[in-house]
Amino acid sequence: MSGGNTSAARRKNIEIAMIQEDFDVEQFMNKYETGIKYNLGETCVDSMSIKDIIKFFPEDEQQSVEKQLHDEVFNMKLVYGWIEGSDELKTNIAKIYNEDNKSELKVTKENIIITNGAIGANFLCFYTLINPGDKIIAVEPSYQQLTSVPNVFSDGNLVKFPILDSEGYQPDLDKLKLLINQHKPKMLIINNPNNPTGYLWNNDQIAEIIDICKSNDMYIMCDEVYRPLYHSSTNPPTSIVNFGYKKTLSTGSMSKAFSFAGLRLGWIVSHDDSLIKDLASKRDYNTISISMIDDKFSSFILSNYKKILARNYVICQNNLKQIDNFIEESKGLITWIRPVAGTTAFIKFNDNLITMDLSIELAEKHKVLMVPGECFQYPGYARVGFGNSVEDIKGGLEVLKNVLIEKGVWKH
Ligand SMILES: Cc1ncc(COP(=O)(O)O)c(C=O)c1O
Repeated sequence: MSGGNTSAARRKNIEIAMIQEDFDVEQFMNKYETGIKYNLGETCVDSMSIKDIIKFFPEDEQQSVEKQLHDEVFNMKLVYGWIEGSDELKTNIAKIYNEDNKSELKVTKENIIITNGAIGANFLCFYTLINPGDKIIAVEPSYQQLTSVPNVFSDGNLVKFPILDSEGYQPDLDKLKLLINQHKPKMLIINNPNNPTGYLWNNDQIAEIIDICKSNDMYIMCDEVYRPLYHSSTNPPTSIVNFGYKKTLSTGSMSKAFSFAGLRLGWIVSHDDSLIKDLASKRDYNTISISMIDDKFSSFILSNYKKILARNYVICQNNLKQIDNFIEESKGLITWIRPVAGTTAFIKFNDNLITMDLSIELAEKHKVLMVPGECFQYPGYARVGFGNSVEDIKGGLEVLKNVLIEKGVWKH
């Protein structure tokens, strides 16, 4: 279904629309996030303040930088602002995409749509592209928004592309081809680096996936909110939009790799001019503009993005070592595929533990938050965020170990 009859179709189908299911991860986190002591559920790299960014400037400049920013923000007349995002912001975002872009096609500010977080970016992609009856393929496990929302907009036509622990979370491209041949989908949705597994698909794998999508004239959307957090990778990929295929979309935000979730600022990048036009048109209905303050702060922060990434790589690498030790000490009770990117690890409990019960007990009795695999349809696993402060990771793992000792499953 496309073109002129789209709105009519959507209006007609609204009466029989699928019910949007609860967002399990968000609900679990929302229930327990406040009031806990050690947060192993966090997916942002240890969040920062604007003052922290000012410290990245040479010491003799810090005072004047702070004064200038302060004056600009305090004197800003708070109107709707740059409806489509300021040029400065979009130029700074484009630089991140072009850093490792070897193709002729460079990302420019015209290729960028500014949204409320990556969650707004993903939603806008789905709202713009997916109509009732469209077949959509999406990876699982991943962030539940990437499957649940397309399922509703397509009126139940979402097909899952499972990524398996037993295959090292690598994409089985024969399986993908079969699914595409069988369902003739309009769009493939992937998430690289992935939440919850922390897997990272490399350039060769992405190039192959793009070839498959191209030969089937499909859109491919990649949630790249954890890009470029490639702290432990020896072979990091470039963004999906840097492969020269027009029908690609990348979403990203300030939240994870750049440690500023509180700004609620995200983006969509695409080289497809008519798609950018469509996205902007649909955006009029749910965004108008993003906050001028978020725009200003984000431009300021991203002008220092390399320093932020250097800091964040070290945090993730150090915390991963702590989880390494914990897993080794567990002597096979817990196993994992060590993530090379992002901020989340999906650990597997090789015992008959009910991970939902364990996670509830940890949160309610011990004030430690980790997310049970049940929230990703993977019972027996748990998602552990390793971007948080060293104290959170150390404290949380210590409590988890003690609880497992108490249960008699952790052997010395
Ligand atoms: C894969 C993925 N996409 C999108 C989001 C939403 O990010 P944002 O805070 O930028 O809206 C999250 C948050 O956890 C995520 O893990």
